[in-house]
Amino acid sequence: MGRKVRAFSITSEAVAAEKERVGGDTKAMDVSRVIALDDLELRDVGPTDVHMRILAFSAEHNIDHAATADTVNISELRGGRMFPGNSALGEVLAVGDQVTKFKAGDIVITHCNGEPDEYGFPLRIWAYDQPDSVGWYGEEAVVGDWQLIQAPLDCGLTLWEMAALPLRAPTAYHMWRRALGIYRIKVPRERQAVLNVMSFGGGVGELFLQLAAAEGHNAYFCAGSAERRAALEPFGITGIDQKAFNRFASKDDVNAFRKHVRDLTGGENMHIVCDMLRGPVFPAGLAVAAREGVNVSAGWQLSQVVEYNSTLMSAKQVTIDHTHYETVQGCAAATELYGSVFKPTVHSEIYAFDDTPRAFHEMHENTQTGIPIIRVATDLPASVANLV
Ligand SMILES: NC(=O)c1ccc[n+]([C@@H]2O[C@H](COP(=O)([O-])OP(=O)(O)OC[C@H]3O[C@@H](n4cnc5c(N)ncnc54)[C@H](OP(=O)(O)O)[C@@H]3O)[C@@H](O)[C@H]2O)c1
Repeated sequence: MGRKVRAFSITSEAVAAEKERVGGDTKAMDVSRVIALDDLELRDVGPTDVHMRILAFSAEHNIDHAATADTVNISELRGGRMFPGNSALGEVLAVGDQVTKFKAGDIVITHCNGEPDEYGFPLRIWAYDQPDSVGWYGEEAVVGDWQLIQAPLDCGLTLWEMAALPLRAPTAYHMWRRALGIYRIKVPRERQAVLNVMSFGGGVGELFLQLAAAEGHNAYFCAGSAERRAALEPFGITGIDQKAFNRFASKDDVNAFRKHVRDLTGGENMHIVCDMLRGPVFPAGLAVAAREGVNVSAGWQLSQVVEYNSTLMSAKQVTIDHTHYETVQGCAAATELYGSVFKPTVHSEIYAFDDTPRAFHEMHENTQTGIPIIRVATDLPASVANLV
């Protein structure tokens, strides 16, 4: 019998009950009534496995998608119960006899590439649609050694800041290298060194802009949250208040935004736009695209389906690119930039483990001032005690 630990689960029964309670209105769902503490039996530690104690994790938006079933009903597809959680930081307790990269006492972070395709890109995401994958929103976990990366403890970030990054930083890193590469096929560095780069709100968008700013580009953060815009100012990232344009509710709002961006960029517009939201944000992002521009996305928070004028995008030579999570190698490369480039904004409250459902509810309500972190371990190892 494997060891039993406490971990959060989502059941299709809980999703259905909450959906019924709010009359089918996904936006009105209280996800804290869906995500519940459960007992998880850990599998035995195999030869290439690592047994770790979770110290902290970040709340990720894919849990909101799982708990509301707004895209696919993933808990149902996973057989009625799933243990979510694909972004965590932990302490290694024991390793299988073939593991050479890690030893007991190491501090590690996870990546969530569930199954790389032949070029390394994820066919599925761990603890989401990868069959039989068990997530890390629990007290302990047994994971394959290929799913872990050493945490860069001397990178200058706090433990909570490091815990904010395992999922969001590789996503931002991949989108940035892809979008820049695509733009550079069209307009080489020799012709134009400095680009205008814009992202809409969210943790991934913030990190995307930190990459752009670190490489000397003009970076703009178009978000509704004043706190999150202010947090990016020290990086030289200019805020644009999305609510001043009514979150692009009408064509007039988009036109006003188009004019604002034209003035802000001296008529150049945005060479690269990161849009993790879609919905009304998508036409706004395209409206401010420069000629030869790139619009990149790995998210569909507000809508899965988009529509655009193909003729116009062709005439403007605009590329609309879709990415997902990084390759395993790309995740390791993104980790090299912790602290030097990636300095995430963490929400003001560090949540206790038992408060995890509330953390997800507040994420759903969009009231957090930064990336939400849940502290799992009350006692921290000496190696990280100075990082909190
Ligand atoms: N494919 C992948 O590998 C991958 C990885 C990470 C995330 N994602 C997806 O990308 C999306 C964003 O993730 P994240 O981690 O960056 O987000 P996040 O930190 O949870 O933030 C979500 C952001 O959405 C913005 N927002 C909320 N409601 C909005 C609305 N009605 N209109 C416009 N903006 C709104 C908010 O910004 P303001 O209120 O400040 O505007 C908020 O900061 C999620 O759907 C997530 O599932 C995908």
